[in-house]
Order: sequence, then C-alpha cells, then structure tokens
Amino acid sequence: MIPLDASSIRLNILQKYLNIPINIHILQSVDSTNQYLKTIDHCAGISICCAEAQTQGRGRFGREWFSPPFENIYFSMRLTLNIKALQLSGLSLIASIAVLDMLMKLNIKKDTYIKWPNDILWHHHKLCGCLIEIVQTNPLELIIGIGINVNSNTKQQTENLIPRCSLFDITGQQYDRNFLIGILINLLLKNIHQFAKNGLVSFIPKWNRYDYLKDKQVSVVHSSSTITGVVTGIDHLGHLILLDKNGTTHNLSSGETTISYSKI
Ligand code: BTN
Repeated sequence: MIPLDASSIRLNILQKYLNIPINIHILQSVDSTNQYLKTIDHCAGISICCAEAQTQGRGRFGREWFSPPFENIYFSMRLTLNIKALQLSGLSLIASIAVLDMLMKLNIKKDTYIKWPNDILWHHHKLCGCLIEIVQTNPLELIIGIGINVNSNTKQQTENLIPRCSLFDITGQQYDRNFLIGILINLLLKNIHQFAKNGLVSFIPKWNRYDYLKDKQVSVVHSSSTITGVVTGIDHLGHLILLDKNGTTHNLSSGETTISYSKI
C-alpha cells in the first residue's frame, strides 16, 4: 500500500493548475473529509482534503459511505465559484463526468456509466459517489466530495451494502491513489473551467455517452410522490427529463431513481 502523500499528488497536477494556490490536507483518519473542509478557515485558491480513513463518511440522503482504511479515495475539494445556485445540479454532473474521464484514461471503458445524478457504476455496481455541499452563498463556496473504491476487494467485504465494486475488482491491479488523485484534480479543474465558461450544454454529448438511465423506464421519488416514465436525457440545468405514459414531460431537479420493469 502506497500511503497518501501531498507531494506525490502535487507531482501529478498539471503545471497550469499549480498557478492557483492548492492547499492539500492529508489526514490519517477523520469523521468526513467534506466535514473537515467545512471547519477550516477560508483561504485563497482551492483546499483539498484526502484521508486514509473516514469514521463517518457520508453519502447522499444522509447515508453512510463505507470508508475502510488505506484502500480507497476519500477526497474533498473546497472552492469558490462564480456560478449561480441554480447551476449547482449541473456542477454535480460534471464532477461525475470528471471521474468517468479518469476511468477512460485508465482504459476502463466498458460497462462504465453515470446513473443520474452522480453514481458511477461499472456492471451495475457502484464504484464511486459524489456529494456536493454548500459552505456559503454569495459568493458561492462549496465542497465537492468524491469517494472512489480503489484497492478494496469488495468480494471479501461482508458488510450489508448496496452492490458495489472497486478498480481492483475491475482490473485486478492495485493503484497508487496519489496518481489517481492528481489526475482527478486536473480533470475536475478542467471541467469546472469549461462549465463556468460554456455551461452544462457543452457537456451534454458526453453525458449522453455516459448516461446509464437513457431510454430506461424509471421511478423517481420526488417531493414525497413517485413519478414513473422513460428517461429522455437531461436539460440545460442538469435536471432529469422523464416522459410519462400520458406524454407529459417532467424535469426533476433531485430524487432517487429506480429502474422500473413494470408496464406504464
Ligand atoms: C453518494 O453516493 O451517496 C455520495 C458519496 C460521497 C462520499 C464521499 S467520500 C469523501 C467525501 N466525504 C464524505 O463524507 N462523503 C464524500
């Protein structure tokens, strides 16, 4: 196991991004890397926190994010962005696209998808999740938290969790997480830059390639009701577009999606 190390991560960050101050915090153990970045003082540039283990790793909908020590990536980035709160759904999608781009660079191309809004799946098993949290509005300061199962052998894990997988399960290789984190930072910053300049629309062709739900019939629990329909894609804000059996279109900003096999 190669330990997490700030200088090794830095070696993999492209020179053009090193012009921005990037403060890297490496911790042995922390409740949650997202939570940790919320507590630090505001500083210029970007702050990154990576931990060997999390004791209270959190996912969407307040779920636990299983975070065993020394195996995986528990990564958070805090930054200030000149975007509107309305654009946040789109931002969470482009963070997931950065992870998929990283998988492409590792030559992991087959059966990898993003399940809206930001579950990264391989062979229907969860490889990665993202959790975006707002620190303050005006200017918008936020934390992008990413958990990637890297070197875990998930077949040996007995915890009762949703079906998941790791990079090791996919390729049989062990990875240097410092290298992966460096690449992830580059791809996140590239996507954030493109997002701020050209908006989410510039990512839609890529999203369509990575979209797990496209043309599938899904049920979405949204504001205490369930809507069922066929996914036709995402709109310019990153909302999921569902076409129900009456031909009505629903643009959903959030919700838990389940593929439904019943007739509509
Ligand atoms: C999800 O799929 O529900 C989102 C999971 C996000 C997990 C990451 S791990 C690093 C960061 N710290 C946390 O507590 N959560 C995120």
